[in-house]
Amino acid sequence: MTADLKNKFIIEKVKESKLSQANFSNLIFGKLFSDHMFLADFYDGKWHTPKIMPYQALTFEPSAKVFHYGQAVFEGMKAYKDAEGNVFLFRPEDNFIRINRSSERLGMPQIPRAYFLDGIKELVKLDRDWIPTGPGESLYIRPVYIGTENAIAASPSMSYRFMIITSPAAKYYSGDVKVKIEDKYSRACDGGIGYAKAAGNYAAQFYPTEKAKAEGFQQIIWTDSAQHKYLEEAGTMNMFFRIGDKLLTAPSIPESTRILPGVTRASIIQLAKDNGIEIEVRPVEVNEVVEAAKNGNLKEIFGSGTAATVLPIVGLKYRDFYTDLPKLENSYAGFFKNKIMDIQYNRIDDPYGWRVKVD
Ligand SMILES: Cc1ncc(COP(=O)(O)O)c(C=O)c1O
Repeated sequence: MTADLKNKFIIEKVKESKLSQANFSNLIFGKLFSDHMFLADFYDGKWHTPKIMPYQALTFEPSAKVFHYGQAVFEGMKAYKDAEGNVFLFRPEDNFIRINRSSERLGMPQIPRAYFLDGIKELVKLDRDWIPTGPGESLYIRPVYIGTENAIAASPSMSYRFMIITSPAAKYYSGDVKVKIEDKYSRACDGGIGYAKAAGNYAAQFYPTEKAKAEGFQQIIWTDSAQHKYLEEAGTMNMFFRIGDKLLTAPSIPESTRILPGVTRASIIQLAKDNGIEIEVRPVEVNEVVEAAKNGNLKEIFGSGTAATVLPIVGLKYRDFYTDLPKLENSYAGFFKNKIMDIQYNRIDDPYGWRVKVD
């Protein structure tokens, strides 16, 4: 821990843990929260003593700016336990960089590095017994950062709150996922906030996604807002397309301001390069993927993200075209999923330094 933070950290522990009442055999994602939370406030132009305290409800005035103008950004990451009970984070520095990039775009002050990284480590250390240890299980970590000033003028908040909560997570299971390529609604536009992990991006997705669900598609693959010509990302995942033996994925920042730069995506790009899988990071046309599907060259589509790591897609719809995707024996999706999870759970060497021990 950074020396200056250690002295300034207030830690108030729960009197009695809720752990004995928690049912780990029936975990529903994001519903159960561990004993403690992290909280730090920014006001009068500076950050004030951060606190780790019992998870609890908070009081906000209805005039708090976040409710009106949506200054809210967040992160999503996980803590993993290995067979010996050691605890690890996966590339947490990348999440730190990303939340401050998101904050900058929404006109919010930068979060100090020590608050984010040491805050997570301290919180996870304190609630380490909340990390489930079954296959694929983990502790989901949700840093969230909001504007709290009680004032309803449309201008940046003068005060902010940064919090971290954690939630035990089961192995990801979503059933078969079919996707629809969206050509009417948009999630993001050039120069907008698509590359930020901003709460409003998710609100923008819900209505079109519910409509797609009613048609039998669990996720939407967004296309560029200007022409609906290029494939972008889906829900909470970046997307990869395998045509023949070549993997394609859309660019994120700096080339595109519309797509969130996923940590899992960056890991897959690196692993592809290091394992002889040809990969191109470039705008991917809807037409080339649909054409490949028609002539039998579209081998795989998969999503990448913290929740599922890698999620193979089983069906694709574009306008009145639909195709099932083949189930491959040796899929790229399976290869990347195993490699990344083996690193996360400390089952193989980590030549990249992605795994960060919490001790
Ligand atoms: C919009 C969006 N795209 C992509 C991702 C995947 O990012 P990561 O791999 O960092 O979880 C997420 C999830 O965080 C997301 O919300």
